[in-house]
Amino acid sequence: MKIPSVKGFHDVLPGESARWSRLEATAREVFLRYNFAEVRLPIVERAELFRRSVGETTDIVEKEMYAFEDRDGTEVTLRPEGTASAVRSYVEHTMQAAEPVTKLFYFGPMFRRERPQRGRLRQFSQIGVEVFGRDDPGIDAEVLLLMSDLLRAFEIESGEIGVNTLGCSECRPGFRSALVAWGESKRDAICGDCQRRLEQNPLRLLDCKQPGCEALRETAPKMLDHTCLACGEHFARVRQLCEFQGVELALRPYMVRGLDYYCRTAFEVTAQGLGSQNAIGGGGRYDGLVRSLGGPAVGGIGFALGVERLALVLEAQGVEPPSTTPEFFVAPLGSAAEEHAFALAHRLRSAGTGVEVDAGGKSLKSQMRRAGKTGAPYVIILGEDEVAQQTITVRDMEARADRRNVVGLDTNLEDLRAALQAARSTEEQA
Ligand code: HAM
Repeated sequence: MKIPSVKGFHDVLPGESARWSRLEATAREVFLRYNFAEVRLPIVERAELFRRSVGETTDIVEKEMYAFEDRDGTEVTLRPEGTASAVRSYVEHTMQAAEPVTKLFYFGPMFRRERPQRGRLRQFSQIGVEVFGRDDPGIDAEVLLLMSDLLRAFEIESGEIGVNTLGCSECRPGFRSALVAWGESKRDAICGDCQRRLEQNPLRLLDCKQPGCEALRETAPKMLDHTCLACGEHFARVRQLCEFQGVELALRPYMVRGLDYYCRTAFEVTAQGLGSQNAIGGGGRYDGLVRSLGGPAVGGIGFALGVERLALVLEAQGVEPPSTTPEFFVAPLGSAAEEHAFALAHRLRSAGTGVEVDAGGKSLKSQMRRAGKTGAPYVIILGEDEVAQQTITVRDMEARADRRNVVGLDTNLEDLRAALQAARSTEEQA
């Protein structure tokens, strides 16, 4: 009996995985330019870490965490996101002692028990960054610039960065009261979930996806109209610094995030090609978080992008995953040729190129069929004649021509490439 994978947990198959590797390699390159260093964080954490950071009343903590009691009684969870883990690691290793500004990046799977749909999985992968130790608008702008550079490097064409300010402990309570008053006045019109949010987490009123609530939102108060002077100036400066660098930010006055730790600058990146799950990334500032998790009173800001969603957007844009095709396919005919094929393949691979080698027991026709499927541009044919003459025949798949005796059987990669190139040039001139 076959055992299927678990709902919401997917394989990333060869071909698609090449796209993932490229996304990660590109991200790593861009992060290093901004002086971020990689941290590899564990997948299992104490459940309390997310309850205290992401927030008790968020969907993630209330409904979506894969939390369980370990055999020793510790309540643990598969991490639903990376920020809390990064903060825990920063605090646990007193990173601020080594460098007052700590810039970290991470890749890896996160787990949320959501209802699976296109672009929404129960195990998904994030590319994330976090900066600890700065709370000035300059670093917010730097992080937004980094996000914009990253999207360009990924070749995402439709990415739009939406920003909002979520205020701070000074001004948020005033905004919260205004929001509650507004919610109360609409109590009969809002959905049941929003009536509950009104009591527990009124900011989330702005995030409701029910059509009725969405339509009402236009009349809701905006945080931007309730910021204290410092938050207002901070936000204005962040936007100005981005504007100076030509990074466009779309103001989203009703955007709130699904995690409670944010303050001041918050942002979300959307792109076309995803349908309703159109957020490919999100992030923001979280100034009280490090302190609340037992660390120093330092500011923090970061973001995460979802790799599955990036891949879907690229696919919708028609960007092919990078090729993993070998340069040569070696087809030996007969057992004597097989050993030579084996040695030649090893020599070429050691020199740095991709080679697939077939077993000698098959016909030329069946090997050519397999060679065609690999997409290798050159097939090296080693038959009895070739072995006897210590030479090779290469079929140039693109030029549809056989190159006989172009090099000896003991060739190296450089000579082989040069000979194949020369054969093509001669042909083109003829
Ligand atoms: P988030 O907005 O919850 O933020 O997730 C960031 C991104 O992860 C989303 O925009 C989306 O691309 C991807 N994602 C989230 N849930 C799923 C899912 N179920 N299936 C597929 N992709 C998903 C955070 O996680 C914050 N920790 C970001 C952050 C870093 N804020 C500050 N620093």
